[in-house]
Amino acid sequence: MTDPRERLDELQRLQSLTEAGGGAKRVASQHAKGKLTARERIDLLLDEDSFVEIDRFVTHRSTEFGLGDQQFPGDGVVAGHGRIDGRLVYLYAQDFTILGGSLGEAHAGKICKVMDLAVRNGAPIIGLSDSGGARIQEGVASLGGYADIFLRNTLASGVVPQISIILGPCAGGAVYSPAITDFVFMVRGVSYMFVTGPNVLKTVTHEEVTFEELGGADVHGERSGIAHRVFDSEPECLLAVRELLQYLPANNLDEPPVVDSSDPVDRRDESLLDVIPRTATQPYDMHAVIASVADAETFYEIHPGFAGNVVVGFARLGGHVVGIIANQPAVLAGVLDIDASVKGARFVRLCDAFNIPLVSFVDVPGFLPGVGQEHGGIIRHGAKLLYAYCEATVPKLTVITRKAYGGAYDVMSSKHIRGDLNLAWPTAEIAVMGPKGAVEILFRKEIGTADNPEAETSRLVDEYTEKFANPYLAASRGFVDDVIDPRDTRPRLIDALRTLRTKRDRNPPKKHGNIPL
Ligand code: HXC
Repeated sequence: MTDPRERLDELQRLQSLTEAGGGAKRVASQHAKGKLTARERIDLLLDEDSFVEIDRFVTHRSTEFGLGDQQFPGDGVVAGHGRIDGRLVYLYAQDFTILGGSLGEAHAGKICKVMDLAVRNGAPIIGLSDSGGARIQEGVASLGGYADIFLRNTLASGVVPQISIILGPCAGGAVYSPAITDFVFMVRGVSYMFVTGPNVLKTVTHEEVTFEELGGADVHGERSGIAHRVFDSEPECLLAVRELLQYLPANNLDEPPVVDSSDPVDRRDESLLDVIPRTATQPYDMHAVIASVADAETFYEIHPGFAGNVVVGFARLGGHVVGIIANQPAVLAGVLDIDASVKGARFVRLCDAFNIPLVSFVDVPGFLPGVGQEHGGIIRHGAKLLYAYCEATVPKLTVITRKAYGGAYDVMSSKHIRGDLNLAWPTAEIAVMGPKGAVEILFRKEIGTADNPEAETSRLVDEYTEKFANPYLAASRGFVDDVIDPRDTRPRLIDALRTLRTKRDRNPPKKHGNIPL
């Protein structure tokens, strides 16, 4: 019988081998690019000493193109579980120092294993990508490996939170794993994502772009909307992921963590009386309303750089997590366009999937008019937001601060689509359209034949404003549950959330709906 102690030296030697990545030279090259190694990233992401690695001895079995001579234990991905603020998470981090972090059969198998564990044990899965993509030498086995991951991403969607942190290249079909996940975080100058790289573009479309211009962090944070948050450095990004998890439940059968808030639940805020400008066309920053109503400094914005005409993010009310969706009058007058609709819809569905009540702040003049928007499919994309709100069964609270016009009134968590509590400020204007547009349609003839068309228009606008641009017609029908003093917004919402904690609502049984994608 062998004494296990005699084998410990060998175990330690093999363990330290697995921790060396692709060797000192490649690690130095990784650092020279301003990037951390997979293990350094994991150390920053997780609670101290909480990482438990699995499959550190896994290697590939391929011999093609000299790959047989390039065996690295772990096969270019570090996988396992750990804790963030004491809560279990599963994760994998691709190691660019080993075969460029490329994904072969064994590498993919490791990722699938932690994904399966995450789903089975009901904990978030976090992927740190830094990879040259499909391992070319392993051919179709690599493609199969990606597909195995895509399938798991899809099946895990809405079951456990999935977070993708892009910390290097993520190209070709590889982008579709992060794309399916709930969050994509990127770092300027470090991450890039594209389906087809600059070299191929140059040949095929004759476009000349750099990696950063084509698929850098800012491009995806501001233009494509692929990245939910963008950071200047890896440590900042990893810290933000830790923070994000404070707002998410471990899985869809769980609730997000509740904290003791030192912010009084009955706090009224005088400043809310001065938020709405005296003239209806003047903008204001909806962030001020969110900051005032939510527990102090708890707003965690998602997609801050993309489609700024709608603001989405997590916050706490009385210590409980809520998802906030707010029209932003300071950007494009808060109008709903294609990007804002898609951004809002995805966030609503995320919150609904993970038991996070929705709080909507409404100041919306309608959907954005224009040939570009119509031809771009505003009908289909706007319908996504409508559909998402309609199907959501989590508590839905709505506060109309100013405008709620036309179809956008219906869409923005109205009573008609199962809003649980619909409040309006006295400054609310709820109508089919704004006064000027309405008057020009209704009284075209009268205005045309008036001695002074301008004065007549202005008189009619005043009359319409007096009659329709207020919350009381909607309130008289029960479409608005109450018109409130803006200063009471926070206490009223917190009280409503308490009453809704036992809310039960279900959609009809079906395989799944057919959201207008
Ligand atoms: C095998 C790879 C690799 C890959 C990189 N390496 N990508 N090995 N398969 N896909 C290896 C390199 O040969 C090199 O090995 C080491 O990793 C580091 O790569 P470098 O090129 O030296 O690094 P860098 O200069 O930083 O360039 C990074 C890169 C480049 C831009 C990612 O490596 C590159 O263009 N790689 C190929 C990318 C690609 O086309 N992948 C396929 C995408 S399509 P040595 O031994 O020299 O250090 C795809 C399909 C997915 O992924 C399909 C899913 C359905």
